[in-house]
Amino acid sequence: MTFLMSRRSFISAAAASVLASVARAEVAETPLRVRADKRDLLFGCAVQQDQLHDLPFMQAVARESNILVHETALKWDDVHPEPDRYHFFDADAIAVFASQRNMKLRGHTLCWYAVNPPWVEAKLAEKADERILTDHIERVMGHYRGRMHSWDVVNEALEPKEGHPEGLRKDSIWQKAFGTRYIEIAFHAARQADPNALLFYNDYFLEMDSAEHSARRAALLRLCETLRRKNVPIDAVGIQSHLQAYRQTYNEKIFAAFLSDIRSLGLKYMITEYDVADIDGPADINKRDAELASLTRRFMDVALDSSSCLGVLTWGLSDRYSWLSDPIWGSDYRWPDGQLSRGLPLDWNLKRKPMWYAIARALGSY
Ligand code: XIL
Repeated sequence: MTFLMSRRSFISAAAASVLASVARAEVAETPLRVRADKRDLLFGCAVQQDQLHDLPFMQAVARESNILVHETALKWDDVHPEPDRYHFFDADAIAVFASQRNMKLRGHTLCWYAVNPPWVEAKLAEKADERILTDHIERVMGHYRGRMHSWDVVNEALEPKEGHPEGLRKDSIWQKAFGTRYIEIAFHAARQADPNALLFYNDYFLEMDSAEHSARRAALLRLCETLRRKNVPIDAVGIQSHLQAYRQTYNEKIFAAFLSDIRSLGLKYMITEYDVADIDGPADINKRDAELASLTRRFMDVALDSSSCLGVLTWGLSDRYSWLSDPIWGSDYRWPDGQLSRGLPLDWNLKRKPMWYAIARALGSY
């Protein structure tokens, strides 16, 4: 007995399979913010004020992100260039862009050892007055009160290589002026300045399987345990996650154990500055892209596998703008031949790279 499919049923079956494949294709391309929204997670990136004019780039940012962070506009040298002058214009421009597109904002950073204008160190040398730090926190957080999802209150206070007994960074104007107390001073001032913002401690080189990262993880956990014991108002840890694909190795179990230790302290966490330096990788770009995507998937699967994870931000969205290629800041990561690092989800032309698909799959395929 032969079953002859009628012409009508053949056409409808063919149409159904075409629609199904189109649907699958659309699902595969679902933006990262949509995937993050469905899991009540945040996904976004760092932006700089001079990128706002690059409309195709900012359209990609808006398509993919439900949260933004200022890459530079809220650092002391940008926002507080002179003792009695604050400059919010650039940071406000990014804040307006975000609010017009229903994006959250996170503030970076209120207290860092780097990029402080010269007047700060000079004033601290005159008199180590806590108000130099607390006035800044009150003014800057006050300007955005109620509009910030979170703040990196203190950034990169750790540096075990410098030999401090608790692994803290000795070469810091804040540590030199106030000792370790500056950290709790900053957090208490921040809580008072905006009780609704989540308060983060943010640091780097916490992710990989190496003696250096292990020492930094231990120092961070020790610091956070001390802050919690002293009832310092800290809510979460920012794990910057500037990975180096060909200079370090990643071990899921080690990273998962670290995240579990953070949770045990009653703290949330975010991946706050994700990118992957591809320096020392193969010359073949497709091979490099594939290997960075594989590492990204392995990393994100662990990072996102917890209710303590608030989300992921990449440090930039496209290789068009990445600190990894910056002649000064990217000096450790730049390709000597001047080619751009390929450490972000979109390439120079804003095309989604394998890394984008790796993050998409880790967030969930919708
Ligand atoms: C870097 C920016 O990418 C540069 O554009 C800026 O000139 C200096 O700061 N860890 C951090 C970030 O917390 O603030 C740094 O960002 C990169 C390392």
